[in-house]
Amino acid sequence: MTHVFHRNPREDYAWAVRGEGAYLYDREGRRYLDASGGAAVSCLGHSDRAVIEAIQRQLDRLPFAHTSFFSNEPMEALADALIARAPQSFDKVYFVSGGSEAMEAALKLASQYFVEKGEPQRAHIIARRQSYHGNTLGALAAGGNQWRRRQFEPLLIDATHVSPCYAYRGKQAGETETEFGTRLAIELEEAINRLGGENVIAFVAETVVGATLGAVPPVPGYFKGVREICDRHGILLILDEVMCGMGRCGTLWAFEQEGIVPDLVAVAKGLGAGYQPIGALLISKEISETIVAGSGFFQHGHTYIGHAAACAGALAVQKRLHEDGVLERVIPLGRLLEKKLKKAFADHPHVGDIRGRGLFWGLELVADRATKAPFDPKLRMHARVKREALDAGLLCYPMGGTLDGQRGDHILLAPPYIVEEAQLDELVDTLAMAITLEEQT
Ligand SMILES: Cc1ncc(COP(=O)(O)O)c(C=O)c1O
Repeated sequence: MTHVFHRNPREDYAWAVRGEGAYLYDREGRRYLDASGGAAVSCLGHSDRAVIEAIQRQLDRLPFAHTSFFSNEPMEALADALIARAPQSFDKVYFVSGGSEAMEAALKLASQYFVEKGEPQRAHIIARRQSYHGNTLGALAAGGNQWRRRQFEPLLIDATHVSPCYAYRGKQAGETETEFGTRLAIELEEAINRLGGENVIAFVAETVVGATLGAVPPVPGYFKGVREICDRHGILLILDEVMCGMGRCGTLWAFEQEGIVPDLVAVAKGLGAGYQPIGALLISKEISETIVAGSGFFQHGHTYIGHAAACAGALAVQKRLHEDGVLERVIPLGRLLEKKLKKAFADHPHVGDIRGRGLFWGLELVADRATKAPFDPKLRMHARVKREALDAGLLCYPMGGTLDGQRGDHILLAPPYIVEEAQLDELVDTLAMAITLEEQT
């Protein structure tokens, strides 16, 4: 009997009691290899002493001081650390408690920016189908996942959705990746023209799509095309790197690999690495200066913004990434994981696509590789694979609705940056077993 209104109240959840490196333990003593960091959160594993001790020291000094009265040292230092490693156009950071809050702040700040700039008619957001930007109403409205949106539709602000950059299913036969990217950029520009370029606030996208598509990177040149179109119409580019940022794809910012710079970028999960709840919005100088010169303040705020203990934890995460060489591990370990996944699954009859970047990988499950036909959604393949994997001591992040919010299944992998090669073998072997067992049932 529980009084907790769990995510899925019908589910009987094991209780997690302890973490050690890449492993979690439940109260029955069962061990799980955390190959997804929950939902791409725990990038340093579950027992990083430096981060834990930094939080403890901060708690001893000052757990919290409300930001309407005070700034605090870890918040200032964390903002300095992030800006020092961001492109020059970024100047300020707004700290929140998670990814949805970061995206909500991005949407409101973008809207306020245009009001202050004397373009209050800009009222439209354009985003992509099959994206996820969070569960608060603004972030949910921007998101393009039908299953998540459907029952809340009456409460959602209007948003226009264009095609995702999802080459496995979107690229036509005979089309090159560049042609595919160009076609999508044209589709975006057509949507902008329909709304009137002067009426659009922002284009919102996950640089590498996480939960809803399963680690889908853009094709080369896609974001360059998007950036040019946004610039032509004076539209802001908001990148959601809540899941794919903070080193997950091998560089601190996933957009570094696209050769573009957004106007606003939201980060969260890997920022606090699960040690404290925290998210952040990086803000370009142009936007912050317009607001400071205008009304003088961002009309937003939450009680826990800039939480001192959360910022101290995230600052320690940054130190681990950059000063202790943890971030450098991501690309070589990612290559190893890619090799192992391809060896195990490239010819698998029910794995249609293996894609990803850094330590962020997705496997798309299909009923038929040749036709790419998905499994019948009634089979709930993703849920079954999750259960088999869990029973075998592996935490991965399978999800359904890959194609259109309803059909399709994929498995998302996001192991910690401290993972060892032997644990990658354990991951791939256990996953292969979970998928095979699943097919037999
Ligand atoms: C890309 C992306 N944006 C936003 C969010 C929302 O973050 P949170 O769950 O911390 O509110 C998520 C969470 O999965 C996400 O993956």
